Amino acid sequence: MSPLPRHVHLVEVGPRDGLQNEKQEIPAAVKIALVDRLTAAGFANIEVGAFVSPKWVPQMATSAEVFAGITRKPGVVYSALVPNMKGFEAALAAGADEVVIFGAASEAFSQKNINCSIAESVERFRPVAVAAKAHGKRLRAAVSCALGCPYQGEVPIEAVVEVVRRMADLGCDEIGIADTIGVGTPRRTSAVFEAAARVFPLGHLSGHFHDTYGQALANILACLELGVATFDTSVAGLGGCPYAKGATGNVATEDVLYMLHGMGIETGIDLDAVCAAGELISAALGRPPHSRVNRALAARKAA
Ligand code: HMG
Ligand code: MG
Repeated sequence: MSPLPRHVHLVEVGPRDGLQNEKQEIPAAVKIALVDRLTAAGFANIEVGAFVSPKWVPQMATSAEVFAGITRKPGVVYSALVPNMKGFEAALAAGADEVVIFGAASEAFSQKNINCSIAESVERFRPVAVAAKAHGKRLRAAVSCALGCPYQGEVPIEAVVEVVRRMADLGCDEIGIADTIGVGTPRRTSAVFEAAARVFPLGHLSGHFHDTYGQALANILACLELGVATFDTSVAGLGGCPYAKGATGNVATEDVLYMLHGMGIETGIDLDAVCAAGELISAALGRPPHSRVNRALAARKAA
């Protein structure tokens, strides 16, 4: 076990992963207000939207408007998901600082989510990677279904390693290992990250955990014990992928902050400000924040 990281970097994915699966139309102004609140809370990286087909994910159709409306803080990375060159061109026009290509360790999920095989997806990502470098954009990759697939079930660790290797070959600055459906448990999570670290530096790997089975915090702790220091989290525990039915939201940012700060790990992020952002977006969606820490702190304040 290596010493725990002293500082952890959180990527706030609420405006993208958090909202992409919402059926009701969320006005761009609400998304802009959310991103601005998250900027003020101290995040160094915020996933603002996705430049994907609006037929596939209608909620993300306002991403250009959202990018145009946010107030940017110097030094903060505002990122966008892009599945192909069309998405990259849109992200470039919107002024995204980082583009996120997203592949899968499961063939079945790759087909359902981006309508092509893993090998085809890597060929689509190749020109995106070249263009990102040419334009000085940071390049991040997500590897979905690293701990299980909604269609194929178990995903072999070697399949994850193979996709991480292919993403590494594209020149990614960071590769995120994603538990898309939140089925992973800590020992398996450690094994996947240890295996991925054989082909890509551990310091540039990040964790993305959906919390469907309530395992996300335990999985993050397992990663911290290996020395992983970057995680995606979602304010108010929003989230889900339209092509991963039954999967609930990402691990709530508030819950992760409470755990990290309680362990003496710095994040540079203000928990109270994140709670307020969580309340803002949850009120817009007409439900309470799906974060135990948010609800516990609100109850304490009210008492
Ligand atoms: P396709 O139908 O195979 O694409 O979809 P196509 O190239 O044949 O194009 C079909 C139509 O889409 C055309 O329009 C294109 O112009 C348009 P039409 O002529 O029919 O009017 N199109 C686009 N429009 C806007 N932006 C684009 C774009 N590309 C093509 N970039 C495609 C392939 C990849 C486009 C589609 O499958 C898609 O958009 N999929 C996105 C799915 C998605 O966003 N899923 C959620 C995000 S991933 C996730 O949540 C997992 C993650 O959180 C990690 C984890 O938890 O695992 C990251
Ligand atoms: Mg996700």
